[in-house]
Amino acid sequence: MSDIILSAQNVTKSFGDVVALDRLTLDVTRGEFIVLVGASGCGKSTLLNLFAGFDAPTEGRVELDGRPITGVEPRCGMVFQNYALFDWLTVARNIGFGPRMRGIDDAGRITDLLRLIGIEDFADHYPRQLSGGMKQRVALARTLANDPDVLLCDEPFAALDAMTRQVLQGELSRIVETAGKTCLFITHSIDEALLLADRIVVLSARPGRVKTTLENDLPRPRTADVQLSEGYLDRKRAIWESVQEEVLASMRG
Ligand SMILES: Nc1ncnc2c1ncn2[C@@H]1O[C@H](COP(=O)(O)OP(=O)(O)O)[C@@H](O)[C@H]1O
Ligand SMILES: [Mg+2]
Repeated sequence: MSDIILSAQNVTKSFGDVVALDRLTLDVTRGEFIVLVGASGCGKSTLLNLFAGFDAPTEGRVELDGRPITGVEPRCGMVFQNYALFDWLTVARNIGFGPRMRGIDDAGRITDLLRLIGIEDFADHYPRQLSGGMKQRVALARTLANDPDVLLCDEPFAALDAMTRQVLQGELSRIVETAGKTCLFITHSIDEALLLADRIVVLSARPGRVKTTLENDLPRPRTADVQLSEGYLDRKRAIWESVQEEVLASMRG
């Protein structure tokens, strides 16, 4: 098996006259944690949707393990900013939804996931009874229940308060690492990118393409203290300067 699990090759995606992505090429290595940053509207969500198989490129190819992604891809699980939970189902039934759709009713596995993600006391609650951080835990567990090889995370922590966010960043890192998942994660926070990523990819203003990539070799395991590491601010400044140009370009239209 090749080391490349996900690949976008010369991908262009247009919506009518709007070119969201322009000949974007990106290879993701198995087990890698990639963080995508870029101005609003530069095509980040569009790229994740292509990898999830929710939509198809206008030109170019998206591949999983060397094979074109042609429909919704169960091996790529998505986690959204707005949780997208089923509000009429309990936490346990939300988490069991994917497996149930495939005819699997494995209560033991749901219990394991509830425990993994620290929500075992909330199994019978409904989403409306939960805080944002708890909802995002449920959403993550629901995606993990399908045992995807790739986690696609579209600004999953953007709506959370800073402390909840810090806790969930740590938990996501731990889960991705212990479960051997590959992760493609979008954020507007450079600190979050430096905390989570093996590699940070900056996209250009729309139409999006890869502008720069930075290998993030800050030592692991990382905690918030990573910000005290030598070279942290230099990395942060370099990424910010790269992103800032694109944010300004996108504001000028
Ligand atoms: N389904 C769609 N129909 C029409 N335009 C879309 C659609 N999805 C995205 N776009 C447009 O494509 C561009 C990129 O959007 P998006 O990928 O959501 O950006 P980002 O996630 O980087 O903020 C934007 O101009 C957006 O309006
Ligand atoms: Mg988006």
